[in-house]
Amino acid sequence: MSPVITIDGPGGAGKGTVSRLTADALGFHILDSGAIYRALALAALRRGTDLEDTEALCALARGLDLSFRHAQEGVAPILDGTDVSGELRTEAVGGAASRVAALSPVRTALLERQRDFRQDPGLVGDGRDLGTVVFPDAPLKIFLDASPEERARRRFLQQQAAGREQPLEDILREIRERDDRDRNRPVAPLKPAADAVVVDTTCLTAREAAAVVLAIARERGIGR
Ligand code: C5P
Repeated sequence: MSPVITIDGPGGAGKGTVSRLTADALGFHILDSGAIYRALALAALRRGTDLEDTEALCALARGLDLSFRHAQEGVAPILDGTDVSGELRTEAVGGAASRVAALSPVRTALLERQRDFRQDPGLVGDGRDLGTVVFPDAPLKIFLDASPEERARRRFLQQQAAGREQPLEDILREIRERDDRDRNRPVAPLKPAADAVVVDTTCLTAREAAAVVLAIARERGIGR
């Protein structure tokens, strides 16, 4: 089995950037599992599917026309033939993603799609339950965390750079709501795996956090 490094944690903790830097350094593949949940949510919103209709969402999940293309920064999600990188990052889609992600059958329908990313020479995957559910045998599990205020500040700057303006207090409220839903759902709740290393990034840059992950990977003989 190819090695997997799982990087779980709440939104805005730096999972995406830290995963990309870690994967680049090791020459590993990358899995942005949040993008899969977001793409499913976007597909449902576009089709007017009820976000509580588990059966319709499962059917949509099984037939989801989603692929990832190498882009300048990491990978770009392609849904129904078009690049949806920008659309997927909006808080509206993030909120809808956390609603569909709370449904157990929907998560099951997306499980194999995520496991298929495990290929040689290795994988860095980020999400909420990659260490607890998707890859429970991963040789290195990281849980990235940061204060809600710092995570909201990062999201604000990300949105601003992408030309979208949203008041900081709105982002903070949405982050808190989403955290609450992700941590308290009965199925695959957001929590560190028992054998995860918790890294708090409130005072770390993404590069510093990636250096921590790479140092532990090296210690455990993962990658080149
Ligand atoms: O990580 P990201 O913010 O893109 O994830 C969007 C939403 O998808 C999360 O709020 C969470 O509810 C859900 N998700 C999940 N399990 C994962 C990845 C994402 O439930 N492995």
